[in-house]
Amino acid sequence: MADQYAHSGEDKRPTETPAIRWEEPPEGPVLVLLDQTRLPAEEMELVCTDASALVEAIRSLAVRGAPLLGIAGAYGVALAAVRGFDVDEAAAALAGARPTAVNLAVGVRRALGAYRAALAEGGDGRRAAEAALAAARALHREDAEASARMAGHGLALLDELLPAGGHRVLTHCNTGALVSGGEGTAFAVALAAHRAGRLRRLWVDETRPLLQGARLTAYEAARSGMAYTLLTDNAAGSLFAAGEVDAVLIGADRIAADGSVANKVGSYPLAVLARYHHVPFIVVAPVTTVDPDTPDGASIEVEQRAGHEVTEITAPQASVAGAGGGIAVAPLGTQAYNPAFDVTPPELVTAIVTEEGVVSPVTSEALAELCARARRT
Ligand code: MRU
Repeated sequence: MADQYAHSGEDKRPTETPAIRWEEPPEGPVLVLLDQTRLPAEEMELVCTDASALVEAIRSLAVRGAPLLGIAGAYGVALAAVRGFDVDEAAAALAGARPTAVNLAVGVRRALGAYRAALAEGGDGRRAAEAALAAARALHREDAEASARMAGHGLALLDELLPAGGHRVLTHCNTGALVSGGEGTAFAVALAAHRAGRLRRLWVDETRPLLQGARLTAYEAARSGMAYTLLTDNAAGSLFAAGEVDAVLIGADRIAADGSVANKVGSYPLAVLARYHHVPFIVVAPVTTVDPDTPDGASIEVEQRAGHEVTEITAPQASVAGAGGGIAVAPLGTQAYNPAFDVTPPELVTAIVTEEGVVSPVTSEALAELCARARRT
């Protein structure tokens, strides 16, 4: 079950609202999410008291972005355990809520593994639930640390690849604090450049159809005080042609063993543009996004979403007209092609920046070595 809490905005600044937090009020533990579907218009929190509410929040993108999905999945298992629900059932539902971001299944597996290990060691349900929660908290903390390290490696790479004088960076979708235990992935690199006085401009793709760029990245860029400009996804080509882009920085939802990168739909066309215009195309993601069990790009399951996200503009505050709850922008009955992600082949990726360092050129051998190094540390 999920309740909604509204914040007036007077007592609490948007910058201070975490994307996710665990709380233990007298009525019992809850997982509190910043409802990202309501941004930037209003800050609303969703309070999940069970895993099924969290599954719904994941499907509706109230909580989203690969690293945060992993954290949410782990807390979801802990929530089921602490509240005495069927933990295996909850874990299966959570892991299957969205297919592309591997972090979700990784997070669920980690908390479930801790839960089962505690039971196997003779612990009771309470002890096992505590173990699941400790695993979720550890993942949350580690993601914040990884974010800071990615920002450092990413900024060093930008400085190495680009001439001095200020970087003009194009980004797609949303990859900041809203998707992370820390300051994010690609956005964290842009933020580090901004703080170092080396970000001349962040070009923000609006990211159709759900506008994560316009609604969320512009929101984060504005509150960080960086120079940013929003563009329609279709305007990226002319921006490259005008020589206004020095680098592309994006996140990833899954990186296959061969280095293929699944990310928000629209990333692949940017990679093609970047190659044509000799601009570095840089992917920033934690090692948990690299999936050695997915051999190549063709093996990545790309989530297909409802057509009404394309045929209607949906906003919580909009008056309701279309069947999907939004305002229709296409004739009723129009079929839509709506993949949530696309896959960029490794040969178009200049570098993958992780907390363990930079992989460039992107090869399966270099990624395997990275994963092995991460397992050792
Ligand atoms: O459908 P979303 O909004 O969950 O998609 C998110 C993205 O594609 C992000 O770019 C990706 O998760 C990387 S975030 C660090």
